[in-house]
Amino acid sequence: MERTFVIVKPDGVDRGLIGEVISRYERKGLRITECKMLRADRATLEKHYIEHREKPFYEELVSYMMRGSILIMVVEGNNAIKLVRNINGKTNPMEAEPGTIRGDYANSITENIVHASDSPESAEREISIWF
Ligand code: CMP
Repeated sequence: MERTFVIVKPDGVDRGLIGEVISRYERKGLRITECKMLRADRATLEKHYIEHREKPFYEELVSYMMRGSILIMVVEGNNAIKLVRNINGKTNPMEAEPGTIRGDYANSITENIVHASDSPESAEREISIWF
């Protein structure tokens, strides 16, 4: 059993895609074990995105993440980390396959609907930041 951390980002919430995102994880046999709606503050986002702080897109990313409400959740199941990332699709929407969340709904590399942890270490770090 593995757990991962997921954010439905402001564009996903504004576009009414919360149900769509959650139902894709549930259809795959994963369970939502924690879930909360909130407005992210800069300090929490700076911790969450620490590995990107020197990247050219960092400021745009933090501003976008503070633009509206987000849904944070913990998703659990066998191989949850890899399965959720497969369901989300590649970060770049031009590379994300149709049938994935980003392949079906995203057209921007910044506004890409969802975030999910990329390793067990990231998952535990991110869950402890947000919950
Ligand atoms: P996320 O999985 O939350 O991790 C970092 C985020 O930065 C990414 O999704 C995108 O929202 C955003 N981003 C913007 N530009 C880029 C880029 N060139 N490469 C990767 N991530 C980017």
